[in-house]
Amino acid sequence: MRPLVYLASCSIVASLVAATVACGEPPLFGPPTESVCPTPSTLTYDNFGRPFMEAYCTRCHSSQLTGAARMGAPSFHDFDSVFGIRAVSEHIDETTAIGPAASNRSMPPGGDRPSDAERQMLGEWIACGMP
Ligand code: HEC
Repeated sequence: MRPLVYLASCSIVASLVAATVACGEPPLFGPPTESVCPTPSTLTYDNFGRPFMEAYCTRCHSSQLTGAARMGAPSFHDFDSVFGIRAVSEHIDETTAIGPAASNRSMPPGGDRPSDAERQMLGEWIACGMP
């Protein structure tokens, strides 16, 4: 009888886990988008990266903000400089960008959200090394 009991409790646990996964929040990180840098690419920090971050990200992710003003945005994820962006660009790709391998839309968590076209441009700009 023992193996049967074990099997039964296992499947209850398994279905509980499945339910939690199915009903929970979407994950913060998606897969890398595998975006590619087109040649030529016209996107730069000045004409794309800065205005994108200012429109959608720096009201939480900024080195100027501390404590509650960050609204939960983790430290060392500050996008008010190109250096701050480059330091965690893989995380940005995996939360915010769209490319051939993934469509990641978990950031920003609310408010003004970028269009899918803007998310594709973000993936490209990151793939180009964020000039
Ligand atoms: C309203 C505030 C807010 C805005 C706006 C916002 N974020 Fe976030 N961000 C958060 C919070 C809160 C977390 C932590 C989420 C968690 O741990 O579940 C987070 C986490 C992240 C992370 C993961 C950090 C890590 O490694 O744990 C990245 C990357 C990120 N945000 C990028 C962005 C980008 C890019 C934008 C703009 C497109 C953006 N966020 C806009 C609040 C914000």
